[in-house]
Amino acid sequence: MQCSSMAPFTYPNMASPQILLIYITFLCIFGNFVSSQFTNFSTLVLPSGVTGPESAAFTRLPVTGPFTTVTDGRIMRWRGPRIGFVDFAFTSPTRTKRRCDGTTDPNMGPTCGRPMALSFHPATNLLYIADAYRGLLVVGPLGGLATQLAGGFKFLSGVDVDLLTGNVYFSDVSLTYTIRDVTQPGFRPDSTGRFMRYNPRTKQVSVLLSGLNGGGGPAVSSDGTFVLVPELTGNRISKYWLAGPKANTAEPLLNVTNPNKIKRASGYGEFWAAVSDGFMPPSPLITPQGVRFDSNGLVLQTISFAKEFVNKTISLVQEQDGKLYVGSRFTNFIGVYSN
Ligand SMILES: *[C@@H]1O[C@H](CO)[C@@H](O)[C@H](O)[C@H]1NC(C)=O
Ligand SMILES: *[C@@H]1O[C@H](CO)[C@@H](O)[C@H](O)[C@H]1NC(C)=O
Repeated sequence: MQCSSMAPFTYPNMASPQILLIYITFLCIFGNFVSSQFTNFSTLVLPSGVTGPESAAFTRLPVTGPFTTVTDGRIMRWRGPRIGFVDFAFTSPTRTKRRCDGTTDPNMGPTCGRPMALSFHPATNLLYIADAYRGLLVVGPLGGLATQLAGGFKFLSGVDVDLLTGNVYFSDVSLTYTIRDVTQPGFRPDSTGRFMRYNPRTKQVSVLLSGLNGGGGPAVSSDGTFVLVPELTGNRISKYWLAGPKANTAEPLLNVTNPNKIKRASGYGEFWAAVSDGFMPPSPLITPQGVRFDSNGLVLQTISFAKEFVNKTISLVQEQDGKLYVGSRFTNFIGVYSN
């Protein structure tokens, strides 16, 4: 919390200025204590041989999860430390457990599916899925084979539902390369990524921005007035206005190196970006970080995950119940940072 922002407020119903001062002091100390720690580290480990938990989502009321996407094409659900992760959903009708479970072969992606990002719509209990090959999909609370809503994309990477309207915002990385190409020698990113909207009532897809430098995961503000759009290889985050005088236009908000998914933080109007400093152009050492910032682009906090995610890119920093869940394509666990 920002303590300085409390000063101009007046509380006419409170009798004593001393009590008010104590109250504010308490809030400041407590708020800063809560927001500046995350020093305890633990892991939610995937089943043996399974890797790449790039994303996470939780249901609300009651909170369950995390749900996560893995390299072998499944969406898995955490059922607690005794049971671990279990199957929840999958995106490809050609996926079989025998051929796909545990595979890390990039060439199996089109067959097994390659889900990259998740977003629950609490009002309908639907889980929206961005799959690199299979496009935008949705699955109900019982899981199983997801239904494709929009296909024909080269490399989808992010999705977020507007909680107020139910519109689904999503992004692709490129019109020319797929996720398989990224690990090829001499790979060069391009500037053909897009930011799009799926309207569940009309079932129409609209391209809102094109010519973006790499994908990542967009995040809708909790008041529904804008969406934040990261450019993984463009080293910036832009604000796309949905309402107000600048509606349907974008403006740069924040320069940050290699931002991947953005998620709403617990603080109102705040967000977390998963940052992999040194990913592209390739540097000798990647520094994975969580960056918390507000809707004006002011950076409030930066946390390094370099000790637990040594030299690895991360794709997700998600805050839930006072903990940070950190996902990476290159681990067999979701990292959990708590106070
Ligand atoms: C971001 O970087 C660009 C290009 O280097 C620069 O023009 C711009 O002022 C920067 N924006 C912010 C918000 O720092
Ligand atoms: C980090 O990873 C890159 C790519 O795999 C490798 O070339 C580099 O040597 C690693 N750096 C360190 C310090 O381990």
